[in-house]
Amino acid sequence: MEKIKIIMDVDTGIDDAIAICLACGNEAFDVLGITTTYGNRKLEQTTENTLKILELIGRTDIPVAKGAEKPIIKVYEPEDYSVVHGYDGLGDMPDPLPTPEKKPLDISAVEFMARTLAASEEPITLVPVGPMTNVATLILTHPELMPKIKQVMLMGGSTLKGNASPVAEANIMQDPEAAHILFKSGLKISMACLDATWKGYIGFDELEDFKNDNWLSATIYDMCGIYAEHYKLRMKNPGLAMHDSLTLAWLAKPELVKSKDCYVTVDIDGRYTYGMTVTDVRNVLCHRPNATVSLDVDRVPFINMIKEAMANLAAQKKGR
Ligand code: BDR
Ligand code: CA
Repeated sequence: MEKIKIIMDVDTGIDDAIAICLACGNEAFDVLGITTTYGNRKLEQTTENTLKILELIGRTDIPVAKGAEKPIIKVYEPEDYSVVHGYDGLGDMPDPLPTPEKKPLDISAVEFMARTLAASEEPITLVPVGPMTNVATLILTHPELMPKIKQVMLMGGSTLKGNASPVAEANIMQDPEAAHILFKSGLKISMACLDATWKGYIGFDELEDFKNDNWLSATIYDMCGIYAEHYKLRMKNPGLAMHDSLTLAWLAKPELVKSKDCYVTVDIDGRYTYGMTVTDVRNVLCHRPNATVSLDVDRVPFINMIKEAMANLAAQKKGR
């Protein structure tokens, strides 16, 4: 089977950490590298978290490059997502992951993406699951490499309801101008958005099974306490939303996701709607669609994919 070549762009975060496990533990993917951005925590922390997860799963061969520390235009006022991901971004576990030995590359995220795209014979899929700052900067600075991008499979946005404002999703809201550049770029875009990612959850009871599945699932279980609390108490979701993992599941098994091609534009000047992905689901504007938008997911096989990836990784490395 030909593998899907991807570069992930992450703001690690608990669900980013799980997505990294899915990408590395599923044979559909060839993870060429991981770039980092500010987002769930500040850049230094999200980069350290990314390195920690790669050491945890024994994939220190995957290069990591540090990216943006703030949005392109928007004044950076770091969001405090500690109630979702913990102060350290990985759930403030009682027995935290050790400081990583692995270091990021000495080139920037954008430089890494540019060099990797330029060197590749086949087009590569970009998978941004944090603010779109790195990808937008790549688009602005390396237009000649756009044909080398097979598609952008992003996590962000929604057709209507937000989680960072009544109408805006967190990844888009953190850098709406960057997202605007991406949606206007003409690149092939798939938008794994809240409409489906809220439905792609690990049930609270199902999470209990993670304790006994294998050593990696048990570590993820320990990480997920605060994330579970957030989804139970504040979001009133039936379980823990696996936002970032949906991008990978959609790439590996497109049949799991119900989607629609739509015209999407990002509001960059609305007073109340700043950061909203205005999604023309009914094609009122009669514009040509510029994105494929996720509307629903077949939840059980999706969660099973995550569990299988963890079992594969746990079998390859004996413990933390
Ligand atoms: C997105 O925001 C972040 O908190 C998550 O990691 C995910 O990428 C969900 O809105
Ligand atoms: Ca994320």
